[in-house]
Amino acid sequence: MKRIIIFASGSGSNAENIIKYFAKKKNAEVTHVFSNNQRAKVLQRAHRLGVKALHFDRDSFYNSNEVLRILNDAKPDMIVLAGFLWIFPKNIIDAFTNKVINIHPALLPKYGGKGMYGSHVHKAVVDNKEQETGITIHYVNEFYDEGAIIFQATTPVQEGDTPEDVAMSVHQLEYKHFPEVIENLLFSVEA
Ligand code: GAR
Repeated sequence: MKRIIIFASGSGSNAENIIKYFAKKKNAEVTHVFSNNQRAKVLQRAHRLGVKALHFDRDSFYNSNEVLRILNDAKPDMIVLAGFLWIFPKNIIDAFTNKVINIHPALLPKYGGKGMYGSHVHKAVVDNKEQETGITIHYVNEFYDEGAIIFQATTPVQEGDTPEDVAMSVHQLEYKHFPEVIENLLFSVEA
């Protein structure tokens, strides 16, 4: 059984979608959800779905190696960032080479970097009158949104769309593709 660990900072609708997708499979499961935000809805969602939900603070992530220690014990085949807003520490990335991936709600390299997340991205897309946007799934390195791109999918932006409309279409793309991309990576690369 392949093991997936999700990191998320907020609502966690992607995390829920991924947990449910793999709950129907026999060869992979989400074992833990980690959040840097104790009040994040994602922790309640994970708990409700029977997945271990853990909160961690800055010190245990960046200084004391406590998060790394838990990850080493849990032995994930894939670490999935789904709306996770802190930069990932290099020592964790190095310990899980090619196993840490992120989803970004735009067509990178456009609209990436520090401060470019969630609704900020969709507002910038609307303000710049883009005709399309989309999602990017990429490997994580120690810079925001810069790791090698694995997968992209696009969706049109219609005239008059609000950032909320764009967010809704982007979320639909995320729900459709993210679990399948994770599955393909888990079973195409011999881990
Ligand atoms: C998703 O749209 C994800 O792409 C984005 O946050 C949202 C989380 O939604 N991630 C980033 O912006 C990271 N730079 P969710 O909590 O409902 O899954």
